[in-house]
Amino acid sequence: MAASLVALDKIVSLAKRRGFVFQSSDIYGGLNGCWDYGPLGVELLRNVKEAWWREMTYRDDIEGIDASILMHPRVWEASGHIGSFADPMIDNKTSKKRYRADHLIEDEIDRLRNKEKEAEADALQERLDKAVAPEDFYQIIVDSGIKDPAGGTNDWTEVRQFNLMFKTFIGPVEDSSAVVYLRPETAQGIFVNFNNVNQSSRQKVPFGIAQIGKAFRNEINTKNFLFRTREFEQMEMQWFVKPGDDDKWYDYWLEKRQNWFQEFGISPDKLRVKPHAEDKLAHYAKAAVDIEYLFPFGWGEVEGIHNRTDFDLRQHAEFSGKKIEYFDQGENVRYTPYVIETSIGASRSTMMFLVNAYDEDEIGGEKRDVLRFHPKLAPYKVAIFPLIKKEGMPEFAQKLHQDVQKQYKSFYDESGAIGRRYRRQDEAGTPYCVTIDGQTLEDGTVTVRDRDTTEQIRIQAESLRGWLGERV
Ligand code: GAP
Repeated sequence: MAASLVALDKIVSLAKRRGFVFQSSDIYGGLNGCWDYGPLGVELLRNVKEAWWREMTYRDDIEGIDASILMHPRVWEASGHIGSFADPMIDNKTSKKRYRADHLIEDEIDRLRNKEKEAEADALQERLDKAVAPEDFYQIIVDSGIKDPAGGTNDWTEVRQFNLMFKTFIGPVEDSSAVVYLRPETAQGIFVNFNNVNQSSRQKVPFGIAQIGKAFRNEINTKNFLFRTREFEQMEMQWFVKPGDDDKWYDYWLEKRQNWFQEFGISPDKLRVKPHAEDKLAHYAKAAVDIEYLFPFGWGEVEGIHNRTDFDLRQHAEFSGKKIEYFDQGENVRYTPYVIETSIGASRSTMMFLVNAYDEDEIGGEKRDVLRFHPKLAPYKVAIFPLIKKEGMPEFAQKLHQDVQKQYKSFYDESGAIGRRYRRQDEAGTPYCVTIDGQTLEDGTVTVRDRDTTEQIRIQAESLRGWLGERV
């Protein structure tokens, strides 16, 4: 565990050093739970989103939308977020520190497992799985003698439910009639647009609506880099089906989504599927699983697949007074569709791809950090170097770089020894480095070095764009 956490520290520091991710408002000491994507990070994030968008919407039966972040406040009454989108919170009276009660218990379970007290850990896990009300969490914390990780005392307040939605006001008057919320999930923007999309696209059930966008949650504690933040991006798809067909489609999407992770280089032994216990299901769900990745700090959810039944559409129909139904012309029936949801964090999965890509190895006796991104996710697809800064090599390299850059993100570098230039690109995760040398000027060929094998081949410079096209 400790060694893996060192790995996470290394990744966070590489992410900062190379311009993937910075703490938000860094020069002011940072803002907790918020992160900024730097020049390499923004490319990675965009490529992750692009990979998802292509997979989900470049097919005939899924439409994309982009709904606004601020929505009518009644949306959140209907969805149940105002009533029940809350986490159990506890304060320590001495240290004045605030914790998520369930996380304190999870940490205690980890501690027990580290001491190989498996039976005690299992018993505590069983109690945690059954805990629903604030009193349940409080009793477990007291019974287990859990102490404040910061101050070491156990003088706890009661457990209270804390609503995670950020509140703000629309217009100049800050009164209760002007309250709006920053959306805590993108899904509701899809539900409230069901009629609009259904009527304008003339899709037939089953069909889906997909969206990528920011979501905000006032998490009690943020932790583990991009894993749990207060501002993040989600990639969600709601698949509308005829009631009764929902179980079949739930299985279909669970399998399809797992394949997507593997297609982009996540090995099956770092992925697992964890069903939600029946008594822990969200208020809207008939069935739910998490797709989890093995992060340096342990298993963590990256995507949720949920059978949300007809809960959301029915709620919005009731609260808005509008009919939200599907009319099946073939069968001449009208019904409220069931919904299978696939919901993945763009930011959290970007962190997963970064962690997954990180590797250390040795080339000719020299250590290197390398990010083994899938070529489609890599920030730069190619880097182009003149071997030396004379004999027309820089001019040739610049011209090739400008030509390639019309289609693929390319990086031009002429400074330092060629080995150092390779190392810099290995750290950025660039899959191919192209060098212009003496032979290029004679026969128009260039060397292409592979990031992972470090092997080099020669190809015609003019065929580089096509060659890359087959790979990235
Ligand atoms: N519409 C369903 C929904 O929002 P969720 O399990 O609460 O379900 C879905 O969130 C995904 O959003 C998670 O699997 C995770 O990838 C991402 N996510 C949720 N909260 C997050 C946070 N505080 N920071 C980063 N990502 C988060």
